[in-house]
Order: sequence, then structure tokens, then C-alpha cells
Amino acid sequence: MSAGPGRRPLVAGNWKMHKTIGEAEAFIQALLPRVSAGAHAEVAICPPFLALPAMVDSARGSRVQVYAQNMHQEQAGAFTGEVSPAMLVEAGAHGVVLGHSERREMFGESDKALALKLPAALAAGLVPVLCVGETEQEREAGETERKLRRQVQEDLAQVETERLGEVVIAYEPIWAIGTGQVATVEEAQEAIAFIRALVADRSGEEAERARVLYGGSVKAENAAELLAEPDVDGALVGGASLDPESFAAIVEAAG
Ligand code: PGA
Repeated sequence: MSAGPGRRPLVAGNWKMHKTIGEAEAFIQALLPRVSAGAHAEVAICPPFLALPAMVDSARGSRVQVYAQNMHQEQAGAFTGEVSPAMLVEAGAHGVVLGHSERREMFGESDKALALKLPAALAAGLVPVLCVGETEQEREAGETERKLRRQVQEDLAQVETERLGEVVIAYEPIWAIGTGQVATVEEAQEAIAFIRALVADRSGEEAERARVLYGGSVKAENAAELLAEPDVDGALVGGASLDPESFAAIVEAAG
């Protein structure tokens, strides 16, 4: 565990479209005894919407917080199939993942929408976890920094400067998601330091406060060395967060 001065590491498990309410209950009952109460790092699980209230109930009083995986920017309206910030807050969610590459690639999530979602989440009192990252092609073409710059600048454009430090950013190289092909610690550290520098272009102070996570094939076996990098403030975990034992091991690695 390292995380910079004053930054509390965050380990978040993104379940994607996995686990019924019953399966989620079984998971949380198995996880809670495995995550020690007094530890430093924050822990979040991001279940599908339907399991969210049950997870909030079951995790109450524990160290585990519950985040959603997506959100619409408006409070209410004619947006069939969407869920609003107010609905998430009432259900007890603490934060929300925004702009995951699966939503960007498969469901047309745009930077324009994200620029509205980020301030809406903050206004509702939710911790936003903004996902950014390059494709394999973009990395090979030397376009990683250009992609990250565009995503970070556009998606955070409407967040007030003094609130930038409340945003969590997850660097998730798309080629590392669900592939078992984890970024090297150097690649992760370099991209994350670059992301922090982009935030620092607006405010050095807020950039020091903002947590930047790594995501993409994080496992119990590689978590400790990734989390030891000075700019890596935690992990967004997909596949390995579905099993309580492997998720607990990653949480332990974060301290
Ligand atoms: P993975 O997914 O850990 O299964 O690679 C990470 C993510 O999509 O957030």
C-alpha cells in the first residue's frame, strides 16, 4: 500500500452484470468476516442496480460501501431504463462508476454526457469514479496520452475546480480489462501520474487530493505491487471481485 500523502486508498469491485440479489447476499456474507474493520483502505462493491438496496442493508456498519455502476444526469424525467442520482442516494449508494469502457464502447456513453454526469453525481453527494483508458491500438500508435487528455479534460470540464479532488479517476487500459493482460507497474504508474498532472493543470492542490486507481486484470497476485506505486491510489477490480476470497485478498493488499 502506498497512495500519496493524505490519500486514502480505495478498492472497488465492479461486478458488471453479475450476481442476482441472492448471489449478492451470499457474497457479502462471505466477504464481511474477511475484511478487517480497522484497516486504512476504503472498500466498495458496485453491484447491479437491483442488488443495491440489499447490499446497503447487509453492509451497514461495516467497512464496505456500495456504489452503482452508472447513472443518468437528470433527477427525473422521460428517460426509459435510466436511474437518477436521487434514486441512488435514497437507495443508500455512496458513489457511482461513470464512463466505464464497456458503457462507452457498447452503450454509446459519450464524453458529452459524462461532462454532465460528473457534476450531477457530486451535487447529489455521490463519489464519482470516472473511468478512462486507451485501446491497444491507441497505445501502439503512441496515442495513450492524447486519449487520456481528451477524456480527463472533457469529462471533468464542468466540475468546479475546488471539487476536483473529490472525483476518483480509474485508469483502465481497455486492453487489460478482462484479458488477464495486466499493465506493468511502470505503465500503470506512468499513466496515472500523467492523469494526475492533467488534474494539476487546473489545480495542483486538488490533484494531490484526487485518488487515481488502476483497473484491468487486477488479481490477488498482482495487487500489492501495483498498489505500491506512489501514484496508484487503489484498484477497480472486475473479475476478481466476484469471489469474496480473492476480493478480500486484494483489499488486504491495499492496507
Ligand atoms: P477486470 O475488469 O478486473 O475483469 O479486468 C476491470 C474493470 O472492468 O473495471
